[in-house]
Amino acid sequence: MSTFEDYNTTCNGYDDNRQPLGADIVAGMMHVYNNKPLKELHLLDAGCGTGNYTKSLINYGVGKVTLMDASTGMLERAKVKLADALSRDVVVDTVEHRLPYMPFDDATFDAILFSQVLHHLDTNDDINESQRFEQLGHAIAEAGRVLCQNGTMFIMASTPDDIMNSWYNHLNMEISRKYVKKFASIHQFLDIFKRTGVTCIQKMKLLGSVLVDYDNAEGPLNKTWRDSDSYWAMANEKEIKDVEQKINALKKDGKLKDFVEKHDRVHTNGIATLFVCKKI
Ligand SMILES: C[S@@+](CC[C@H](N)C(=O)[O-])C[C@H]1O[C@@H](n2cnc3c(N)ncnc32)[C@H](O)[C@@H]1O
Repeated sequence: MSTFEDYNTTCNGYDDNRQPLGADIVAGMMHVYNNKPLKELHLLDAGCGTGNYTKSLINYGVGKVTLMDASTGMLERAKVKLADALSRDVVVDTVEHRLPYMPFDDATFDAILFSQVLHHLDTNDDINESQRFEQLGHAIAEAGRVLCQNGTMFIMASTPDDIMNSWYNHLNMEISRKYVKKFASIHQFLDIFKRTGVTCIQKMKLLGSVLVDYDNAEGPLNKTWRDSDSYWAMANEKEIKDVEQKINALKKDGKLKDFVEKHDRVHTNGIATLFVCKKI
């Protein structure tokens, strides 16, 4: 279960505004670094949500997938979306379970994907940085355990810098200050990899957005639009009101488009960082 967002409610609008950015890159790297045809791989999609990445990766040729998520609602949506893959035994299991630990035997999977899930695990946002990501560390260690020798782990995670590349995260800095604490930096990830014995072999920035309607300057006025980014789960009512007033004032002054252009960096600096790790 996420420490701050109710995904059993969020699941209702999640797919209206979400896309599996970088699934093509993950498929290509999975093929290269596992050194096997995709159809021979067993992938664990950990924190699979509504199954958008799995759906795309199956279309690229991945042969076998286990889905895992802590939210009943998200997993139910994934089962509907992937009904055909379930009937063909391409999706071989759907497991409702909460990270960081995993109910699988050692060396079960050829590949593991964590897409935008690891910032949901830790609660202690205000303790010092070296202790803040304890649960995240357990999840990486656990992924190392259930991964086969030479298997690959793909972590798609925003860093605090990536978070501030989204234009709307500049509308209210109080929300942003709370939210960025949820996210580990690149150095913190590299430190966790070292401590947990997994080897990071590639890292890159993903340009663009996971939101289909990212460029919509009036998007944050709409609750369904907001529900597709956990950023808004950190905001209280007063902060949401403040955001609405700010957008309406910018619009009235004819400055809303300029605000978006001034603060957008996802198209130039990236929305997330993709780490590729190996169990060697
Ligand atoms: C932002 S969504 C990402 C979903 C999907 N991976 C994607 O990229 O579209 C985060 C997902 O992580 C799941 N989640 C949050 N905390 C979790 C935990 N402790 N264990 C397992 N899943 C968790 C949520 O239920 C939600 O489906």
